[in-house]
Amino acid sequence: MPGALWIVGLGPGGAELRTGRATSAVRDADAVVGYGPYIDQCADLLGEHQLVERSTMGREEDRADRAVALALEGRRVALVSSGDTGIFGMAALALRAAAAVPEDERPAVEVVPGVTAGTAAAALLGAPLGDFATVSLSDVLVPWEQVESRLSALAATDLALTLYNPRSRTRTWQLDRVRELLLEHRDPATPVALATDVGRADQHVDLSTLSTFDAEAVAMRTVVLVAGPTAERVGPWLITARGR
Ligand SMILES: C[S@@+](CC[C@H](N)C(=O)[O-])C[C@H]1O[C@@H](n2cnc3c(N)ncnc32)[C@H](O)[C@@H]1O
Repeated sequence: MPGALWIVGLGPGGAELRTGRATSAVRDADAVVGYGPYIDQCADLLGEHQLVERSTMGREEDRADRAVALALEGRRVALVSSGDTGIFGMAALALRAAAAVPEDERPAVEVVPGVTAGTAAAALLGAPLGDFATVSLSDVLVPWEQVESRLSALAATDLALTLYNPRSRTRTWQLDRVRELLLEHRDPATPVALATDVGRADQHVDLSTLSTFDAEAVAMRTVVLVAGPTAERVGPWLITARGR
């Protein structure tokens, strides 16, 4: 039987925000490959019959190559990552690895979309994202100067922002710099939400403002949502009306 490569976004946390196709892809796979915590995230779907390969942070390219190699052996492989696999996930690397295989030998490939952290966080607040942009603050793969130039350009627009990878053990200063850059164009009272562990048992959201948000309260699994200037409070919710 020809192999298949399913590149799966698992959603932000628990099973409730996992799509039906993500669930069936992981269940039907002969082999499941992923960063350890993402394997844990779909542990409820795994069975004894499956080859399960856990890998570590920083081994993304190896993981993508391994998933393609297993699919070339004829296995149905689920390569899992959190949220949406195309948003700072494994899809681009895995597709590059699959594209390197001659077309007549290439396994069937499917990208399975997932609920990304930013929209899951937005739903907890109401409907704050109208037109919006998503930026990763990680400078592991992109020089920090490039991240800054993206943020400066976006600060001058009226787009809401979802900021991923806001902090790590070693990257602790960037959020204060982000605040400075945004304050060059945006109102200090702009609502800012710090949404942590969204879709998990201990999810929590701190809603404050651009001038007051607590950068120290941001963790690795926080997504930072900066509302656009047309966002408004309506009852308990934060919304950006369509057409605003
Ligand atoms: C490597 S990126 C992966 C993003 C993922 N592919 C997605 O679409 O959500 C990791 C970043 O996503 C965000 N993130 C992932 N899961 C999250 C969650 N459950 N709650 C809040 N933020 C999350 C955090 O900003 C984290 O630093």
